[in-house]
Amino acid sequence: MSHHNVPVVTLAADGGQATVELPAIGQGTWYMGEGLATSEEEVRALQQGLELGLTLIDTAEMYGDGGAEKVVGQALKDRRDQAFLVSKVYPWNAGRDSAIAACEKSLKRLKTDHLDLYLLHWPGSIPLEETLEAFERLSEQGKIKRFGVSNFDIADMQALNELPNGQRCAVNQVLYHLGSRGIEHSLLPWQREHGIPTMAYCPIAQGGSLRRELLGNATVEAVAEELNASTAQVLLAWAIRPIDGKRDVIAIPKAVQPEHVEQNAAALSLTLSDNALARLDAAFPAPKHKTSLDIV
Ligand SMILES: NC(=O)c1ccc[n+]([C@@H]2O[C@H](COP(=O)([O-])OP(=O)(O)OC[C@H]3O[C@@H](n4cnc5c(N)ncnc54)[C@H](OP(=O)(O)O)[C@@H]3O)[C@@H](O)[C@H]2O)c1
Repeated sequence: MSHHNVPVVTLAADGGQATVELPAIGQGTWYMGEGLATSEEEVRALQQGLELGLTLIDTAEMYGDGGAEKVVGQALKDRRDQAFLVSKVYPWNAGRDSAIAACEKSLKRLKTDHLDLYLLHWPGSIPLEETLEAFERLSEQGKIKRFGVSNFDIADMQALNELPNGQRCAVNQVLYHLGSRGIEHSLLPWQREHGIPTMAYCPIAQGGSLRRELLGNATVEAVAEELNASTAQVLLAWAIRPIDGKRDVIAIPKAVQPEHVEQNAAALSLTLSDNALARLDAAFPAPKHKTSLDIV
């Protein structure tokens, strides 16, 4: 199936890797592989998403204690080449040798020989130099195509940027939705200056600040109604909106229910007018000062 004119975010060329264009909405997998739904339902949801163009799949060794990676492995069994596969290493597994071992275990659960992107899940106490060395070795071995980080605030990004190979960081994955706009103060501008796209987690506000205020908010509901869309779709379209003319945020909603997957894919073609954006901005303005990075 081809997907024309869907909004994309470009990852820069890196070493042997050419630039890659990713659809601005992908699929999360937190809470998969934990028995909340059957693995058949979760596999089906991920495959449905792939067919609808949500080709980036985000997982982690943490999710379901490896269970989510196993579900993803099942979903990609006969279609690995259709997905841009992202996984993450626990900070305490991110050492010179432990990160290699952790990655190999992830690959085994995912039933693949490579990840398209491997992220440090959050900053920890193992020196970043070690993690970068491990990422470098994993790239040389072809086990990962790119690396990045998650839950890094601006000071962490600046420190990373000073290290050998630190500038090769492909993305930073952080919590971002209309009710949690702290990154817009300085982290997002810094990343844009350095050409590092953002992956927005909890894009439909499963966690993060002001999530309760978003539910049933009159402005969000009015905008959704005008567009004949759901509020989740409005939140997704908002998260991936171009900022100052450039689109560099990829939202990764997690969905198991078929109608959720369908809505999330359809949100790729939902455009918020300047008027709608202005009203959403007035209802949930970005903070004017630095706030601590929102996490779940
Ligand atoms: N790096 C990190 O530290 C970090 C932290 C948190 C999350 N993440 C990643 O980001 C992904 C997304 O975040 P998240 O899962 O926490 O939250 P989320 O995507 O904001 O919300 C997920 C919830 O929303 C529901 N949902 C999905 N689509 C919907 C729709 N169209 N309408 C109404 N409800 C909908 C899902 O229900 P159903 O499943 O029942 O359809 C699920 O309960 C995670 O799965 C994970 O891959 C990363």
